[in-house]
Amino acid sequence: MMAREVYLDNSSTTPMHPEVLKEMQTLLERKYGNPSSLHRLGNDAERTLSSSRQLLAEQLGVKSGEIYFTSGGTESNNMALAGIARRNYRRGKHLLTSKIEHPSVLEPLKKLEVEGFQVTYLEPDRNGLLDPFQLAETVTPKTILVSVMHVNNEIGTIQPIAEIAAAIKRKNPQTIVHVDAVQSFTRLPLSPREQGIDVLSISAHKFHGPKGTGALYIRGGILVEPLLAGGEQEKGLRAGTENTPGIAAMALAARLNSENRKEKTAQSKIFKEKMLSSIETAHPWAQINGPRKAEGVPNILNISFPGLKGEIILHALEEHNIFVSTGSACHSRKNKPSHVLEAIGAEKAALDGAIRISFSSMNTPEEIEYAASKIPQVISELKAFMS
Ligand SMILES: Cc1ncc(COP(=O)(O)O)c(C=O)c1O
Repeated sequence: MMAREVYLDNSSTTPMHPEVLKEMQTLLERKYGNPSSLHRLGNDAERTLSSSRQLLAEQLGVKSGEIYFTSGGTESNNMALAGIARRNYRRGKHLLTSKIEHPSVLEPLKKLEVEGFQVTYLEPDRNGLLDPFQLAETVTPKTILVSVMHVNNEIGTIQPIAEIAAAIKRKNPQTIVHVDAVQSFTRLPLSPREQGIDVLSISAHKFHGPKGTGALYIRGGILVEPLLAGGEQEKGLRAGTENTPGIAAMALAARLNSENRKEKTAQSKIFKEKMLSSIETAHPWAQINGPRKAEGVPNILNISFPGLKGEIILHALEEHNIFVSTGSACHSRKNKPSHVLEAIGAEKAALDGAIRISFSSMNTPEEIEYAASKIPQVISELKAFMS
């Protein structure tokens, strides 16, 4: 058994980068002032906020005044959807999304339906891809908001965001385009201005930053109703004392994780190919869920072993210090099949037998070597036990 954990559940969350952890510790210890305080400690904290905002804005090629700090991806998505819908309903009450969004998009939309909004949920193809023209066809003069994720957290599909935004704006230039970029920010190039994105959500713990910290880019001029009532922080859009250490750590993590992107992507590809070839050689009956190559990110591999149970595989791998996920971590404590795998037409046996293996730049070739030999072996043992 390998002494160290082989953590292959990076789409659920990532370990913090050691430098980010150090930075956060220093801030927690020494820069504990409230950014709203008028004294020196307050000013120090305010400067930290401001430089972090600038850093994130530079990563996205937007203005720093267009970045709002939140408590993570869930809050950013809620703020984008409920905040925009409730503030812009006079222009129309139609919202558009897909069936494979994260629950932090689908659940606020359900609440908005109760409030009287109409939501259209589009079906992806078997690889999880949305068709920009099909999306645009459903846009009406009353469509105020479209929300589409950039990278799917369960199967890794990359949506053609620029084409989607362009098709939507051709049909209705007023429609606001929100993108949940929680899984893609720092890993894939993102440029809201060039891609036609008006509002964009990110979350620090998906790129080696701390949990409970995120941000929302809101293009200047877009009206959003705040979710929280309170102080005037974040220009009154997000009340509550800012999490300065978390925010500074997020900005540093964003910079570090964006560095050498090409090399990191190439490494992920090698990891995914190694894993796939070992599994498929030993178990040609395994089924890949979602895209194999170009339309998918190299750091996510969703694979089903029909006849076995994802949860049993997960625990069997845990015995060998290998940590993966069944479908999506957000669902895995509920005994419900993945809505994403259902939407791409996976059959019952594939739904039950799915595991997700997700890499990060902190994984090493030795870890992948170990996991790629162990996983097929564990599957063989489980299969023998079942028959
Ligand atoms: C695509 C996507 N959106 C949103 C979220 C929610 O982010 P957070 O955990 O920061 O609330 C996640 C987390 O799993 C995600 O994968």
